[in-house]
Amino acid sequence: MPSNIQSDVLLTPYNTFGIAARAKRFARVESVDALRALCELPEWRDGRRLIVGGGSNVLFTKDFDGLVVHLATKGHEDLGDEGHDRLIAVAAGESWDGFVRTSLRAGWPGLENLALIPGSVGAAPVQNIGAYGLELAERFAWLDALDAVSGASLRMDAEACAFGYRDSIFKNGLRDRAIITRVVFRLPLRWEPRLTYADLVERLARNAIVTPSADQIADLVTTIRREKLPDPAVVGNAGSFFKNPLVDAKTCATLREQAPGLVAHPQADGRFKLAAGWLIDRCGWRGRSLVGSSGRAAVHERHALVLVNRGGATGAEMLALADTIRKSVAGRFGVNLEPEPLIV
Ligand code: EPU
Repeated sequence: MPSNIQSDVLLTPYNTFGIAARAKRFARVESVDALRALCELPEWRDGRRLIVGGGSNVLFTKDFDGLVVHLATKGHEDLGDEGHDRLIAVAAGESWDGFVRTSLRAGWPGLENLALIPGSVGAAPVQNIGAYGLELAERFAWLDALDAVSGASLRMDAEACAFGYRDSIFKNGLRDRAIITRVVFRLPLRWEPRLTYADLVERLARNAIVTPSADQIADLVTTIRREKLPDPAVVGNAGSFFKNPLVDAKTCATLREQAPGLVAHPQADGRFKLAAGWLIDRCGWRGRSLVGSSGRAAVHERHALVLVNRGGATGAEMLALADTIRKSVAGRFGVNLEPEPLIV
């Protein structure tokens, strides 16, 4: 049996919500071989296992009665050029923002719009992270994964990953099955800035930046995120708690009549993506917590889409708040909100 297994481990450092849930057993692994060695454990075989990287997309609502594996593999490798791109392979355990900055320092722009997103490189494809006009899928070449059931190595391209908005096969068909061990990015050799997100364009204009460098974009994105979103190192949170809901054009038009000022973005398929933060804000939730509650689980003061642990909240308290917000938005706008984090 692998020797690095600990019992009854506090998970506070392994989830950005800072929930004090406990794991019955816990292992930190620094290599894919060490990960593979865990496959023989009874908890692994009967499915009572959970892989965490940065822990930025999980809400623990109770203690975990199984094995939690913290994937801490490190390093990256330049695989050379292919067509108009350079291919860079990165270990799943690397910090996402750390790698974005490393890539910029190395002179490999392309990920700058995704600066400061919390979490690990291996978690990034799971929910196809996106921000400020760019999604991971657009810079993705392939990934390597371990089949948790058969122990086989898998290599998956973008099509196999079935990326969608904050979605992939790792949240659906391969949930609890494929463990991402390495991600290969396709970074453009002839880089051009991605300037489609209104907030970013407006900030560049305000700073009189006409042709921004990748570093300037990363810095501005970092500034905007710091202004709007709480730092998980200071106050527990997992970024946006809900996905922005997609509705058809008719529903969007009806909602617009009912709620002037509704923030809605047209999509290529004819649907509209609504700003969930706006809907929650209009329901009066910004900065609030449940009446009669301890107030430890709350909605962030500056962004209604972000739920925060003001200190000592339980996962159950966070979930009760989220459920009430969902009902409130469904009652007022008839729109169903879907949580972004994995609820365990
Ligand atoms: N808004 C309000 N009140 C609020 C919050 C937002 O009215 O309390 C309005 C804003 O004024 C804006 C609109 O809602 O008009 C959208 O807000 P924002 O630009 O902050 O973006 P978002 O749709 O809330 C998404 C992602 C973020 C990503 C940003 C920037 C999702 C679920 N969230 O947020 O991703 O950083 O766009 O691209 O798609 C994350 O997934 O954890 C995350 C932070």
